[in-house]
Amino acid sequence: MRTSLLGKFQLLALIFIANNSYAANTIKEHHKESGLSCDDCHISKPFESVETVQCLTCHELPERKTDYHHKPDKHDSPHYGPSLDCENCHFEHEDSVNFCNDCHEFDFKTP
Ligand code: HEC
Ligand code: HEC
Ligand code: HEC
Ligand code: HEC
Repeated sequence: MRTSLLGKFQLLALIFIANNSYAANTIKEHHKESGLSCDDCHISKPFESVETVQCLTCHELPERKTDYHHKPDKHDSPHYGPSLDCENCHFEHEDSVNFCNDCHEFDFKTP
C-alpha cells in the first residue's frame, strides 16, 4: 500500500509540473503570429527569465521610440527615461501590467 500511496503523490507532482509548463507554452499572440519560438527569447538557459537586452535584439527600442505614439511615453518617461526593463510592464506568459499606475491613473493597456 505504501508504494501505491507514493505513486499518487508522484502523479500529483506530474500534474502540477504539466500545468506550469502549459502556462509557459502560451506566448503572446503578437509573437505567435510572427513565428517566434522559445529560443528566440530563452537563449542559453531555456527556463530562466528573459533579459531586456534580449528583447532589444529585435525591438531596438531607443531607435523606435517615436513609434510609440500614445502619451505619455512609457518607454521614455520623465522619471526613468528609456531605462526601464521591459519586465516592469510586459509579460510573455501572463497578462502584462501597467506599472505607471502604481502612482498614476493613466488609461492605457500594455500589450
Ligand atoms: C518573446 C519572448 C519569449 C518567448 C518567445 C518565450 N518566452 Fe518564456 N519567458 C519570457 C519572459 C519575459 C519570461 C519572464 C516571465 C514572464 O514574462 O511571463 C519568461 C518565463 C518563462 C518561464 C519561467 C522561468 C522563470 O524562472 O521565471 C518558462 C518556464 C518559460 N518562459 C518557458 C517558455 C517556453 C517553453 C517557450 C516556448 C513555447 C517560451 N518560454 C517562449 C519570454 C519569452
Ligand atoms: C526574435 C525577435 C523578437 C524578440 C526576441 C522579441 N520580440 Fe516582441 N515582437 C517581435 C515581432 C516580429 C513582433 C510583431 C511585429 C511588431 O510589432 O514589431 C513583436 C511584437 C511585440 C509587441 C506587441 C506590439 C504591438 O503592436 O502590440 C510587444 C509588446 C513586444 N513584442 C514585446 C517584446 C518583449 C517585452 C520582448 C522580450 C521579452 C520581446 N518582444 C522579444 C519580435 C521579437
Ligand atoms: C512602463 C511600462 C512599459 C515598459 C517598461 C515597457 N513598455 Fe512597451 N509598451 C507599454 C505600453 C503601455 C504599450 C502600448 C502602447 C502605448 O500605450 O503607448 C507598449 C507598447 C510596446 C510595443 C508596441 C509598439 C507600439 O507601437 O505600440 C512594443 C514593441 C514594446 N512596447 C516593447 C517594449 C520593450 C522591448 C520594452 C523594454 C525595453 C518595453 N516595451 C518596456 C508599456 C511599457
Ligand atoms: C513611484 C510613483 C510613480 C511612478 C511609478 C510613476 N510616476 Fe509619474 N509622477 C509621479 C509623481 C509624484 C509625479 C508628480 C511630479 C511633479 O509633478 O513634480 C509624476 C509626474 C509624471 C508626469 C508629469 C510631470 C512631468 O515631468 O512631465 C508624467 C508625464 C509622468 N509622471 C509619467 C509617468 C510614466 C509614463 C510612468 C511609468 C513609466 C510613471 N510616471 C511612473 C510618480 C510616479
